[in-house]
Amino acid sequence: MPSKAKGRSLTEARVASSRPSKGDPPVSTDAIVLLRDDHKEIRRLFREFAQTGEAAVAARGQIADKIIAALTVHTYIENETMYPEVRRLLPELEDDVLESYEEHHVADVLVSELAAMDADNERFVAKMTVLIENVTHHMDEEEQDWFPKVRAGLNRKQLSELGARMIEQKKSAPRSPAQPSALKKSIDAVIS
Ligand SMILES: [Fe+2]
Ligand SMILES: [Fe+2]
Repeated sequence: MPSKAKGRSLTEARVASSRPSKGDPPVSTDAIVLLRDDHKEIRRLFREFAQTGEAAVAARGQIADKIIAALTVHTYIENETMYPEVRRLLPELEDDVLESYEEHHVADVLVSELAAMDADNERFVAKMTVLIENVTHHMDEEEQDWFPKVRAGLNRKQLSELGARMIEQKKSAPRSPAQPSALKKSIDAVIS
């Protein structure tokens, strides 16, 4: 059965070559895969925050810092690249993009307030809980409704070019809402 054996080894070779090892560049630069991976990490941090006891103020503050950084980078690359490009390439999705900008804006306000607040403030957990609820709803909508529409409307090459741009952009993206590029992003979202 030489052909079967050959087929199997080809598949195995493909699987092996697509398995990234530490330090390798990402195998796929597909924009939706990239954004979904970000969402996964953000959801993991949300769970970590929820599981941290009320008494563990320092730990809660550290996880909150990670959440703030992850959300600042993620909303930045979506606002700067994904949303405007999808709006340009798929004008029929404009309403979805505009709604997303507003949802990001609500998250930005909460993120900025949390970044300036001590973890032992009585409003800290309540504010983070509202942020988590809002962002979870927003990510659910993106994953269940928006990503499928974008995948249907753009080809592989377009999605991979968008992903490559966002991977590049992540390197210099703001990680705190107080950084000038993040502030500019928030102001643009409100007045433009
Ligand atoms: Fe988003
Ligand atoms: Fe997102």
